[in-house]
Amino acid sequence: MKSINKTKEWKKLESLSKKMSKKHIYDMFKEDKDRYKKYTIDLDKLTFDFSKNRIDEKVFNSLIDLAKSAGLQEKIEEMFCGEKINTTENRAVLHTALRNRDNHPIFVDDEDVMPEVNNVLKRMKDFSDEVRSGEWKGHSGKKIKSIVNIGIGGSDLGPVMAVEALKPYCKKGLDMHFVSNIDGTHMIEVLKKCKPDTTLFVVASKTFTTQETMTNANTARKWLIDELGKTAVKKHFVAVSTNKEEVKKFGINVKNMFEFWNWVGGRYSMWSAIGLPIMIAIGWDNFEKLLEGGNAIDKHFRTTPLENNIPVIMGLLGVWYHNFFGAESYAVLPYDQYLHRFPAYLQQADMESNGKGVRFDGKYLDYQSGPILFGEPGTNGQHSFYQLIHQGTHLIPCDFIAPIHSHNETGNHHEILLANVLAQAKALMKGKTEKEAEEELIRMKKNKEDIALLKKHRAFSGNRPSNMILVEKVDPFTLGMLVSLYEHKIFVQGVIWQVNSYDQWGVELGKQLANQILPQISAGKNVKTSDNSTKNLIKKIRKARK
Ligand code: F6P
Repeated sequence: MKSINKTKEWKKLESLSKKMSKKHIYDMFKEDKDRYKKYTIDLDKLTFDFSKNRIDEKVFNSLIDLAKSAGLQEKIEEMFCGEKINTTENRAVLHTALRNRDNHPIFVDDEDVMPEVNNVLKRMKDFSDEVRSGEWKGHSGKKIKSIVNIGIGGSDLGPVMAVEALKPYCKKGLDMHFVSNIDGTHMIEVLKKCKPDTTLFVVASKTFTTQETMTNANTARKWLIDELGKTAVKKHFVAVSTNKEEVKKFGINVKNMFEFWNWVGGRYSMWSAIGLPIMIAIGWDNFEKLLEGGNAIDKHFRTTPLENNIPVIMGLLGVWYHNFFGAESYAVLPYDQYLHRFPAYLQQADMESNGKGVRFDGKYLDYQSGPILFGEPGTNGQHSFYQLIHQGTHLIPCDFIAPIHSHNETGNHHEILLANVLAQAKALMKGKTEKEAEEELIRMKKNKEDIALLKKHRAFSGNRPSNMILVEKVDPFTLGMLVSLYEHKIFVQGVIWQVNSYDQWGVELGKQLANQILPQISAGKNVKTSDNSTKNLIKKIRKARK
């Protein structure tokens, strides 16, 4: 396998990056009146403007050539067709099948997965209809008022993000809660808001062995049984999992289990039965729109030539900055309060997928792979970390996401919000020269010494890249589009970096060590740890907790 950084396409980009370092995005706008048109794609209810990037035609074409040399088009087909592209776990990667709304057959091990996908969706629909209508009664004959999803990572972040994002579509009178952290505080604080006879727990775990989820589920079960007795479990607990045996062992009837499959990665699973709390909250019709939005991007991704393909371009722009300009991080900045958990959701999607240091063929990478992703909803971020993005020494490419219409058009809030998002993108790109800063200070009637010092502090280099993603409104369809866009952007980068985006061995070591340390803290076992720091910390904790 030829390393991507040894290809002629990569070398060409290296030399272009040197030339591009001398160019300013703002000047490129002045030189080309059509720049916005050239570098903007409209798709359905979404607009992707990537004109404020350090690219020109040569760079853009060379990035596309890099994608071609990495065999991206063929790899896209492999994914959609159910090839086992998760090579270290020998699994297909088929979250796209979960939103395959035309229902064309998709085969894994010679079996069409669509009948089962549709069967589970139908069961989810029937169940969520029952809960929403009040037909599903708790042990003491009362309607369900609180749903508590117990899961972590991919079994939590997608549902919580989507339920928050789609709050205007959520059923009134149904309170949605999410417990993920092993810290007992998380569970206890949620239980304070619930009553046993009107609460339904959804235990969501692909493996049904995850320490946090099983510990939380056991605590919830005890809370319920203490109040209502053991027979209440069947009316107050359902499971979402791939592991029937463990679900049975926990005591949940498999009739109340919603299945998914090993070809659905945890962080790509909100479209599967893991989305059950989303469906309960927003109802089947809206959930279907979410799937349709995801599917619209799938079709775009699979069929559109690379040069007009939004996730491809997003992925390549990331590669451009991470590998040729030394950018190590990446900010996703949603200007919609309902999307406040979107960056957290993407942190897992992106960093668990592409935070890898070994190539497909087992060789270590000698170039940078997945970036550090962070973000906060605008305008909060502006009053927090934007300082560093504007004037700091790091190059941080940004994605701004904004809806044209708000669900809450109160006064001129939304116009102010929109003005801010456009202003931030412009400020990053244009900057402010020392001369402009100086003129400003003169207008402010500052003295000469102050001006000489302050003009540097008040200048902005600009030339800092960003993408702008506008959607009509944050609704189920556009949310589906957004999530699917980022899933495919991550795929594109994984292909270029030659890493398996679908395993997550990096989370295992900590889990193993926690299992070794636990008995040393709780069961008073001899403290046997190879390093002095861990040993002394365990001793200190034990002594204090005696
Ligand atoms: O953090 C590791 C991980 O395996 C994630 O990939 C996954 O989303 C999460 O744990 C939860 O796993 P499970 O759904 O099996 O409980």
